Amino acid sequence: MEIIHTPVMLNESLEYLNIKPGDRIVDCTIGEGGHSVEILKRIGEKGLLIGIDKDEDALSRARNRLSLIGSNFVLVHDTFANLSNILENLFVKRVSGIIADLGISSLQLYKAERGFSFMKDGPLDMRMDRKADITASTLVNSLAESELADVIYYYGEEHLARRIAKAIVVYRKKKRIETTSELAHIVESVYKRRGRINPATKTFQALRIAVNNELKDLEKFLKEAPLFLNKGSRIVVISYHSLEDRIVKRAFINNSVLKRVNKKVIIPGRDEVKANPRARSAKMRVAEKL
Ligand SMILES: C[S@@+](CC[C@H](N)C(=O)[O-])C[C@H]1O[C@@H](n2cnc3c(N)ncnc32)[C@H](O)[C@@H]1O
Repeated sequence: MEIIHTPVMLNESLEYLNIKPGDRIVDCTIGEGGHSVEILKRIGEKGLLIGIDKDEDALSRARNRLSLIGSNFVLVHDTFANLSNILENLFVKRVSGIIADLGISSLQLYKAERGFSFMKDGPLDMRMDRKADITASTLVNSLAESELADVIYYYGEEHLARRIAKAIVVYRKKKRIETTSELAHIVESVYKRRGRINPATKTFQALRIAVNNELKDLEKFLKEAPLFLNKGSRIVVISYHSLEDRIVKRAFINNSVLKRVNKKVIIPGRDEVKANPRARSAKMRVAEKL
């Protein structure tokens, strides 16, 4: 069965971006193009869509979908943390809107070989950019116990981080940890009781953040992005866990060139969550260039 990523808060994000024909919009996490397909329709033939993703598979899928609608788009394989360089290389000084829909897509999550999911057995990879050097396996097999514990504690907000790190180190003395199932079992062995969420959830989140440098990339991006917006243009960011949301909130509050459009975070409606459970943790924040 073909996996398709359902765009989260599509209507809300398009409404807040306030797109007009001829606009230049940057989709910093184009994924499968769920948001961008609609953006491309709205900017019309005279507009320009710039799509960025760390994942080359996502870019090629987005290209196929966008090509059915128009040709006025440019796709860039890079991290959005390099937004200034990306726009400079394209000779673009200002844009009319920026969107970032953080995290990973369904395509990445549900493909066992990408190693993001504890529900599917696969290589312990977790790289969004498959050309990057460091995988989750590299980290769990090489970090010192205290470093591992810190990663799991800070990026996973996992209160059993020290015990999980210890269990990882005991295991890897016997055998290198190569698969998602191995790691999931190690984490499960530390938990005495199973709750509603899988015990491996937080450890997997932590390693994914570390492998992909997610929080540092986000901070750099949020510093650079507002500089490229036209006056009155907006930046829309959708995040999926509290660490990201906190960074976005702080960046929008403490900003001399932005004003927050929504003081209260925007969350998906009940119907959307029912139709797409992956949307349940989504939080959207919007700011406007002064
Ligand atoms: C939630 S998906 C986006 C889905 C897209 N909005 C759609 O509806 O099809 C997030 C995408 O962002 C990409 N990504 C995450 N962090 C990134 C970064 N720092 N730079 C570029 N792309 C990134 C991931 O590879 C993934 O394809």
